[in-house]
Amino acid sequence: MKIRLRDASESDLKALVEMRVALQKHLEVRDPEIWKFSQRGFEIAPLEVKARLRSKSSYVGVAEDENGRIIGMIMAEAARDEYRDPERFGHIHWVYVDENSRCRGLGRSLVKTALNFFSRHGVEQITIGYVVNNPEAHSFWNKLGFVARVTHSSATLNSIAMRLSDASKNGCGKDA
Ligand SMILES: CC(C)(COP(=O)(O)OP(=O)(O)OC[C@H]1O[C@@H](n2cnc3c(N)ncnc32)[C@H](O)[C@@H]1OP(=O)(O)O)[C@@H](O)C(=O)NCCC(=O)NCCS
Repeated sequence: MKIRLRDASESDLKALVEMRVALQKHLEVRDPEIWKFSQRGFEIAPLEVKARLRSKSSYVGVAEDENGRIIGMIMAEAARDEYRDPERFGHIHWVYVDENSRCRGLGRSLVKTALNFFSRHGVEQITIGYVVNNPEAHSFWNKLGFVARVTHSSATLNSIAMRLSDASKNGCGKDA
């Protein structure tokens, strides 16, 4: 099957929103404890995607099959911060490949399109984030050379408070 990779446009909005929502739902299934979309979050997904399509610092790319159907998408953002070294960096926010089109190199091809965008913006360092309990994402990013350097963790306020109130746990790991 012939696949075409191209920059996304507003005419792709419907497919992009569907994939954006599918990505979020996929992550929520992989780990029900991650932050979730509220009803309002789902409602504003079209606005979020539209804003990304219009932003000069964001890149949205799609893969379409020979029938013009969108079967994959990527969204990346280039940033600059003079207090950081390297000053120009990028983040890949979303990558999604249609379930029936996975494991055929499409994800890699989409990352390549984002790299072209980063390269045009002089980006040197790229970050990504993925749900720990999403093994395909781990393999995918790992294969591309991404190494985990910062961990984002979460706990509920109540569970933290409960542990803080447990005075018997003092002693740097040594139980009292
Ligand atoms: C992650 C995802 C984008 C990968 O897309 P893809 O087109 O299937 O990936 P590719 O075919 O380009 O695979 C590239 C490499 O990733 C790894 N990989 C991809 N899917 C994998 C899987 N299910 N299991 C193990 N390794 C996998 C492999 O190492 C593969 O290289 P190889 O084929 O030489 O072994 C796709 O599985 C997806 O959309 N998942 C749901 C959404 C998601 O989790 N997105 C990531 C958010 S951070």
